[in-house]
Amino acid sequence: MALQRSSRRRFLHNTLAAGGAAALTALSWSRVWGANERLRVASVGVAGKGWEDHTLIAESPYVEIVALCDVDDDAEHLGKAAEKYPQAKRYSDFRRLFEQARDFDAVIVSTPDHMHAPIALPAMKLGKHVFCQKPLTHTVFEARQMRLAADKYRLVTQMGNQIQSHQAYRTAVKLVHDGVIGRVEEVHSWQSGSMRWILADDRPAGADPIPQTLHWDDWLGVAPQRPYKKLLYHSFNWRAWQDFSNGQLGDFGCHILDPVFLALGLTAPTTVRAEAPAINREVWTKRSTVHCQFPGTERTAGKTLALTWYDGKGHLPLPEAHGLPKEQKLPQAGSVLIGEKGSLVIPHVAMPKLFPKEKFADFKIEVVPAVNHYTSWADACRGEGKTTSSFAYAGPLTETVLLGTIAIRNRGETLRWDSTRLTIPNSTAANDLLTKRYRKGWEPSWIG
Ligand SMILES: NC(=O)c1ccc[n+]([C@@H]2O[C@H](COP(=O)([O-])OP(=O)(O)OC[C@H]3O[C@@H](n4cnc5c(N)ncnc54)[C@H](O)[C@@H]3O)[C@@H](O)[C@H]2O)c1
Repeated sequence: MALQRSSRRRFLHNTLAAGGAAALTALSWSRVWGANERLRVASVGVAGKGWEDHTLIAESPYVEIVALCDVDDDAEHLGKAAEKYPQAKRYSDFRRLFEQARDFDAVIVSTPDHMHAPIALPAMKLGKHVFCQKPLTHTVFEARQMRLAADKYRLVTQMGNQIQSHQAYRTAVKLVHDGVIGRVEEVHSWQSGSMRWILADDRPAGADPIPQTLHWDDWLGVAPQRPYKKLLYHSFNWRAWQDFSNGQLGDFGCHILDPVFLALGLTAPTTVRAEAPAINREVWTKRSTVHCQFPGTERTAGKTLALTWYDGKGHLPLPEAHGLPKEQKLPQAGSVLIGEKGSLVIPHVAMPKLFPKEKFADFKIEVVPAVNHYTSWADACRGEGKTTSSFAYAGPLTETVLLGTIAIRNRGETLRWDSTRLTIPNSTAANDLLTKRYRKGWEPSWIG
């Protein structure tokens, strides 16, 4: 989709409207499952996090991994998964997999972020249930499309923010719901650890030979063509680059902000503003502070709620901001919710802590048991129970995270977000970043 700048705003508006109307005539793909019938799952992106995803989903006795798709045929990627599931059909191009749509019921998408929506959306069009890694998508527009598609085709969806189902996050959410810290006045969230990927300042010159096992053009997919460089992109290190990822906020935001969203019932921010060093068009910032303003909810003290995000090595909220004792060491990543009756620290990932310590010395935190984030999706696909991070929930969470990354690229500007119209009405430059150009021949087919 090569959108001209001038037509981009109208395109977003029209497509949003089309998606909304189409939802009214949604088809239902649900059916009655036999008691021992197994969900036939195709896994796309089978190494890295994908390995954990298909392994944990396949722990359900009602799941069969029937197809594997990966752009790297070597022993560490497709080869390893093929050894684990020798009966599964193998593909390097998801479009060939989708030509055999009768062979499977559901899809796991665990590729780099820029390929989530281009793979998940056609899967949903084919009526396939989807488990998709976090962040749900690479752009805000894609996140909205994912939510609309899941709704239109009435599919079972789950984002891979598995910590949501961990007892620590579930316990934190319950403490807020139980009113233990009262209504919440302010939130600070952070990821102060170092980025674990190869950091870069600009695109390197030259090219390296493409490994024989790697389908580099398929790896690039919708992203603009660029020369292959050893280690810099595939595997894992694509996180440094704007064409494939959304940096540290994109990587961790959907985890760390998740219990905050759930606890407070947040939806769309009204404004977003970032402080960050200047960056070029290639890479992501190594440090940022992002200020979001949300409409208040029944669990917030005011009519609005201020949430501040911090990332970068050693970048944490200061005691003046978080209000805890100066000597209190904060976890490397997490959130503090400042409430009318106390504060709650939610480490990523450990049990939550209440402050002031003296006030809550005798308070016994009731631990909420974990649920299985993976097999609960498979169960829900077979008509048993529901998922907790469906695209109806994960879409708006991802939109918020990605709006933060738009603010980082328009640092210092207070961006107004009109979620209903899917526009940033006060900045053309920021508004243009709600979507992106897709490589010729790889234009996704949006719903609608
Ligand atoms: N939930 C979590 O805790 C968590 C942790 C790590 C990664 N992730 C997410 O998982 C996803 C994958 O991250 P990763 O670290 O495993 O990346 P990775 O680069 O290590 O692995 C990606 C895998 O997908 C394959 N692949 C790439 N493009 C493909 C395509 N177009 N079609 C099929 N296969 C393709 C690669 O060959 C590789 O096997 C990302 O979205 C990331 O954000 C989530």
